[in-house]
Amino acid sequence: MTKRSILSLVAVAATALALGACGSDDDGATSTSAATGGGASTQAGESGKIALLLPESKTARYESQDRPGFESKVAELCPDCEIIYSNADQDASKQQSQAEAAITEGAQVMVLDPVDSASAAAVVNRASQSDIPVISYDRLILDAPVDYYISFDNVKVGELQGTSLSDKLEEDGNPTGPIVKINGAPTDNNAKLFKQGSNDVFSERGVEISKEYDTPDWSPDKAQQEMEQAITAVGKDTIKGVYAANDGTAGGAIAAMKSAGMDPKQIPVTGQDAELAAIQRIIAGEQYMTVYKAIKPEAEAAAELAIALLRGEDPPEGMVNGETDNGQGAVPSVLLEPVAVTEDNVQDTIIADGFWTPQQICTKAYQKACEDAGIG
Ligand code: BGC
Repeated sequence: MTKRSILSLVAVAATALALGACGSDDDGATSTSAATGGGASTQAGESGKIALLLPESKTARYESQDRPGFESKVAELCPDCEIIYSNADQDASKQQSQAEAAITEGAQVMVLDPVDSASAAAVVNRASQSDIPVISYDRLILDAPVDYYISFDNVKVGELQGTSLSDKLEEDGNPTGPIVKINGAPTDNNAKLFKQGSNDVFSERGVEISKEYDTPDWSPDKAQQEMEQAITAVGKDTIKGVYAANDGTAGGAIAAMKSAGMDPKQIPVTGQDAELAAIQRIIAGEQYMTVYKAIKPEAEAAAELAIALLRGEDPPEGMVNGETDNGQGAVPSVLLEPVAVTEDNVQDTIIADGFWTPQQICTKAYQKACEDAGIG
């Protein structure tokens, strides 16, 4: 069990909105020089190799937000740095090979978002043998000598989901549910924290969970199958709400409801990540809420920290704002605040922050819904 202490809110400046995503959508390891032709500087720490290892590509955030956010910050701060990038496609042993390849290629710092929070300890031990510092990115790596952890307050993410759904059930006249609960991957420490935060709220509020699943790999397809099973077992007229741990699994659950002839507009569904498709579903009334996590500041903080480690410097002043026990010790942490989003505050959160623009959200199919919601 992790124990976190948040000392203060982090203020990580979000800079330019335009992201210069370099690299293509390939699934193998790629090496990109952050930028080239950057003058004649040859001082130590002005160039170097940073490995960025992300866990999967079925969830939109990694290729569309985390990777470009990280790359553009590295390009800005260290134009001659090279990023060794890999995505493990939900495969822990593939991630292990990718990490080994990055070490062989000369990575000097590793930013690792683990597929499996426990087995990634082997990667960290291997990196530490070569004196390569490791930043545990978004998901905590357990029982290993991790240098830093950057994430959100993940128990709070679960609490926001649980509270938002409980409030809506109450408003709908179904305060005790029952609900179906679709959690994330059992190998992801975050999924455990989301589950913990939400289950605490549901038990406090007396919401009955009639079926609960852990979803291997966070796969939207598997979430759809789980929801189909739940509908068969519980009955489509009995289910009053659905807890889905993220927007991908919410999409799967909503698809299952639609094919069973249920109206998702009548059955509130939670989510997380503020994916574009989820924001559109929220505007259209098909998904009740999501959790907005400002991924760009998260990715940028990881880039800033990686460069500080590369240069042997301390982290930027004020960035580290807590510590997290990963079983091996207190890991200095950068913890960001998540925000619950329903149709009522899409404008004040997602749009105000430039996470998505009205143009991106209000495509033809959503124009009317956007007008009704006062967006556009
Ligand atoms: C992340 C979520 C993401 C999920 C699936 C979690 O660890 O925090 O943002 O939706 O993994 O990749």
